Amino acid sequence: MIVSNDNGQNHRPAREGLAYEADLSLRRLRPRLDAEWERSQTPAEAIDRFESRLAEYWPTLFKLLFELYGQRYDFFYHLEQILLTAARGWADRPETLRELDAHRINDPEWFQSEQLVGGALYVDLFSENLGKLRSQIPYFQKLGLTYLHLMPLFAVRPGDSDGGYAISNYRSVDPRIGTIDDLRALADDLRDAGIVLVLDFVFNHTADDHHWARHAQAGEREFQDYYYMFPDRGMPDQYEKTLREIFPTVRRGNFTWHEGMQQWVWTTFNSFQWDLNYGNPAVFRAMLDELLFIANTGVDILRLDAVAFIWKKLGTGCENQPEAHTLIRAFNALARIAAPGLLFKSEAIVHPDEVVRYVDTQECQVSYNPTLMALLWESLATRKVSLLTRSLSHRHKLPPGTTWTNYLRCHDDIGWTFDDLDAEAIGINAFNHRKFLNEFYTGQFPGSFARGVPFQHNAETGDMRISGTMASLAGLEQAIEADDADLKELAIRRMLLLYAVTLSIGGIPLLYLGEEWGMLNDYDFVNDPAKAGDTRWVHRPKMRWEFLEELQDDGSIRKRIFTSAQRMIQLRKELPALANLQMELIATDNPHVLGYVRMHEGNRLLVLANFSDEPQTVAGNRLRTAGLGRFFQDRISGTTLTTSVDVSLEPYGFMWLERV
Ligand code: GLC
Ligand code: GLC
Repeated sequence: MIVSNDNGQNHRPAREGLAYEADLSLRRLRPRLDAEWERSQTPAEAIDRFESRLAEYWPTLFKLLFELYGQRYDFFYHLEQILLTAARGWADRPETLRELDAHRINDPEWFQSEQLVGGALYVDLFSENLGKLRSQIPYFQKLGLTYLHLMPLFAVRPGDSDGGYAISNYRSVDPRIGTIDDLRALADDLRDAGIVLVLDFVFNHTADDHHWARHAQAGEREFQDYYYMFPDRGMPDQYEKTLREIFPTVRRGNFTWHEGMQQWVWTTFNSFQWDLNYGNPAVFRAMLDELLFIANTGVDILRLDAVAFIWKKLGTGCENQPEAHTLIRAFNALARIAAPGLLFKSEAIVHPDEVVRYVDTQECQVSYNPTLMALLWESLATRKVSLLTRSLSHRHKLPPGTTWTNYLRCHDDIGWTFDDLDAEAIGINAFNHRKFLNEFYTGQFPGSFARGVPFQHNAETGDMRISGTMASLAGLEQAIEADDADLKELAIRRMLLLYAVTLSIGGIPLLYLGEEWGMLNDYDFVNDPAKAGDTRWVHRPKMRWEFLEELQDDGSIRKRIFTSAQRMIQLRKELPALANLQMELIATDNPHVLGYVRMHEGNRLLVLANFSDEPQTVAGNRLRTAGLGRFFQDRISGTTLTTSVDVSLEPYGFMWLERV
């Protein structure tokens, strides 16, 4: 294949050259594609839809795959296999999903709505199995959820499976939870209930007992090439010079010696999670097959797990490599062709500059917002909003057609991933500040209300992350232990304050279920050998349905948290200003009070949030200049206020203000 270099020096510009090659190769692949349609007996009308999207996205896809694999002698063979896999995926796609695809192509911003409110849960811990989960749909509806992220539920290795993230088969559900058919039935029920289904695509690694890994262990070269394996320390030592350690308490370094194969295997996370080698196009094709299989069970959004790590290059940190983006874009282009209703959500828990690089309609349409999450906790600890404001001022905006998911807690730890320069700009030393936050959230700092637990403390670097439930981190555990009504009140208010922000700041709010009634840390995980080594289990307890019976009981803390969250969720859905992302910070002239205006299609909502445990005021004329007019209403409390006087906020108080 003749292709010019991408340096613009050649007679034929590179792009034109590649477009020509793309066109030519598709023509050469035509007979194979037609044979595939013939074989699968796909209806002509469905073929037409695929073919028109193929025509649209093929040039892009070709370019991306060429960037990754174009230098290989067998590029054309892999290109063919990838195209045929996509065609097979479309042929297997249920008609209801194809209809939904058509719908979403016409309404590409469907997920930007104020109606979308998410929840995340482990099926086994929340409801034991998929069947029971189906019967709990009314609970999600009662709370107001319209988006459900089920933690990995596929077949896993026995023993420790990193909470489902060590997958041994992407095509079967963990038998303890159910079957693929149960998953499909659940997806159908959720769709009928207007709830979007989100599942993980754990594509950076497989479990060490995935059949590819087993073949590799049996000595088969073809499958050893699916992973990164080295016979001696030569290469691993070279790589280690520039690698971080993600789970340093599991094992030092990023490689695990495998006795049977006599090889070092690349294992970024746990030793039983083998990193896949995307330098090998066979891996890309095989994972595309798995991706489309999962999509076709009825998934609306795929959470791309550990995106930052999927491409390795000697001499780099092997995180956030340009090729990682190329690779996700290639998967995205294939999804546009073969499962166009599907969206990607990136899980990039990295520096904020890097987080946004994954967010694009061509890459991931949705992203976790780890910076906002960390800085909301930071603001609670410091009682000041300066770092949060600084960060939001230039980090909230995203490209059109994309959005954040705003969360407070998830199944993972909290890492203090704010930007050092943002901190420096307001006179904060980032290193000391992280140290302070770790001390604060592990309850060691004098006056701390938090009951967090260290995660992955690295004695060498001093680095540490924090585990703990929202309620325990916000002070409820300590308050209940002290049996102190005032402390309980403050803890509840902190939680509601955090909800008031994530529900209104722009993006999809995402709760970790159990949060909605103030679930505390559960220290029992240490008794389970498969969990004891990983403190993240402290915030992943089993759902206590019996607690919800208290929702009848007026005075209970759980009822108060639940009904307040429920009411705010309901209110969010009544406020079209909360669709999408557009947000402008306002100067409140009060270091404890965060203020912003949300706007969408002529609707406006002004939000004030007091991060201190003292009452605070904001000058009335500040709000007037922010466009509130003379009279306005707090939609949270229903009170009408005027900008002629200062507005007072209670300790941890917040307001959602609308002009009347
Ligand atoms: C993601 C998951 C985390 C898991 C890791 C390895 O970061 O959220 O729980 O440990 O990937 O799969
Ligand atoms: C997982 C881990 C988290 C780590 C991240 C890196 O989310 O749980 O601790 O920082 O991966 O992407």
